Amino acid sequence: MNKRLLSFLLSALCLSVCAEVNYQVIPLPQQISFDKKGGYMLLTEGMTVGYPAGNQQMKRNAEFAAEYLGLSVTEGKKGADVSLTLGLKSSNPDDYAISIGKKGITIQGASESGVFYGIQTLRKSIMNETGEIRLPYAWVCGSPRFEYRGTMLDCARHFFPVSFIKKFIDILALHGINRFHWHLTEDQGWRFEVKSMPELAEKASVRPCTIIGRNIGLSDPDNAIYDDTPETGYYTQEEMRDIVAYAAERYITIIPEIDLPGHMIAALSVYPELGCTGGPYKVWGRWGVADDVLCAGNPKTLEFLKTVYGELCDVFPSKLIHIGGDESPRVRWKACPKCQAKKQELNLSNEAQLQTYINKEMEAFLAERGRQLIGWDETLEGGLSENAAVMSWRGYEGGKAAAKQHHQVVMTPTDNCYIDYYQLKNHDRQPLAIGGYLPLSKVYAMEPVPSDLTKEEAKYIMGAQCNLWTEYVVSPDHAEYMLLPRLAAMSEVQWLQPEAKNYEQFLERLTKLEQSYRRLGYKYCTVHE
Ligand code: ACM
Ligand code: ZN
Repeated sequence: MNKRLLSFLLSALCLSVCAEVNYQVIPLPQQISFDKKGGYMLLTEGMTVGYPAGNQQMKRNAEFAAEYLGLSVTEGKKGADVSLTLGLKSSNPDDYAISIGKKGITIQGASESGVFYGIQTLRKSIMNETGEIRLPYAWVCGSPRFEYRGTMLDCARHFFPVSFIKKFIDILALHGINRFHWHLTEDQGWRFEVKSMPELAEKASVRPCTIIGRNIGLSDPDNAIYDDTPETGYYTQEEMRDIVAYAAERYITIIPEIDLPGHMIAALSVYPELGCTGGPYKVWGRWGVADDVLCAGNPKTLEFLKTVYGELCDVFPSKLIHIGGDESPRVRWKACPKCQAKKQELNLSNEAQLQTYINKEMEAFLAERGRQLIGWDETLEGGLSENAAVMSWRGYEGGKAAAKQHHQVVMTPTDNCYIDYYQLKNHDRQPLAIGGYLPLSKVYAMEPVPSDLTKEEAKYIMGAQCNLWTEYVVSPDHAEYMLLPRLAAMSEVQWLQPEAKNYEQFLERLTKLEQSYRRLGYKYCTVHE
């Protein structure tokens, strides 16, 4: 048989058993250029991953690459038998460049995180392939549009075990997301162990009963029907440190949130003296916004907060620390002699400024520890503290106002980012949700930088984030169903320049990512609207 015929037959045979990779993953790489002369390498067992000697993060990266691609690891930059070489170059920290050629595969990153994203891209490229895997010679590179690429999970309304938190972090890593905003306290449960105040974990974490269905609009929620199964659980500091380390290996920073001065009824249930009326208070079994908040005029309030945040900073190394600040009614403050005395003492003109007074105290406390305060957009109302960052959730306006004042902003408007909303029009086809309608296409359509900001102001938009509140999200499976595939859409909002986005093409690429979800055992919504 002549050589050309043999080669043709071998190629034909390979078409049936070989998988040729196209590198079209989510988030889409910025550039995919195939070698004009063609050619490919086969990914085979026995190949090794090399990394720069002595770099522990690159060693971990090499281990991830070996695990994902079925290879083994060898220390040292290069060698005849090394097929995948990891290295560093300089530019934006999260940039990556993969080159596949005759000499093997090289993944370079501007930092270790960039290499990690390159590995993820290669992993997603081949994950669902079977048989012999052909990697066409190519140059594939990626560069995220935003430095802050977040997702929030509320573990207070419902408690999620450590095993799920790690799975959640794996899901974020798969999507190139690098911030996990961890909502740890609520009216309905306190989940952060404070060693010097053990009652918070022991008692404030216990919700004896939970309203069945929605209470919004009920005239008398006290007389609604409650499920008497207690909702309990908290994270020990050891568990949280372990989770922080697990996330850090995957280049994810955890931003913890202890919501203040509202959403504090669970804490008030064990420290009623911190409320304006003195209580008694019970961990809330219903949803919504409570009038009872921390008393702004009681000096013990700041003492309490500083103890909690002191321990929070010990556990979480993140520069940004979230102080909440949302949905804190001021009716109690208006009627409270202590709050009114504080308002007079500070010569404040309204109660919103009382909230700013607390925020400024907390900002100074955090700054002493090298941290920066971030809060929901209500923190703008009484004036922002000096270096506060703002998370804009009630639309884009708060974020715009903050950017104009030269404060950093994370955009997470309800309309595009609240993935506790229904994802399908037909509610009968989905589990009970808080309401709303946020289909996949609407997440994808999000533009985090409002067009009426100047170029200078636009620089303050650090990025975007999806939020998963869990009043009605009762299990890990349910959380995954709400997250996926909307997180895939958010990932392209976070990574791609606007002109590179294309929803139809995204849906094509999503088919492959959803195959990966199935392979990894992730639940997801299979219908896309
Ligand atoms: C929020 O959704 N209350 C920030
Ligand atoms: Zn008060």
